[in-house]
Amino acid sequence: MPELIIDGQPLRVAQGTTVAAALMSAGDRCSRTSVSGQRRAPLCGMGICQECRVNVDGLRRLACQTLCRDGMHVETRP
Ligand code: FES
Repeated sequence: MPELIIDGQPLRVAQGTTVAAALMSAGDRCSRTSVSGQRRAPLCGMGICQECRVNVDGLRRLACQTLCRDGMHVETRP
């Protein structure tokens, strides 16, 4: 079972869990903050809406298209 860090908080998830699914178990369940300051969350779950953009180990990724790995650092806040 991989353990990742989401906004500084450790979270252990089942193998094969997407980052979007992990976000549903962590913090405020959001993936990013819009330019107007609203918190946004994964919506479509299939790579279309782009609402699930997060920083994974310093790179911008779609949370719904990214599998959790042990030691992964996910950031949802600028
Ligand atoms: S949830 Fe829509 S692109 Fe990831």
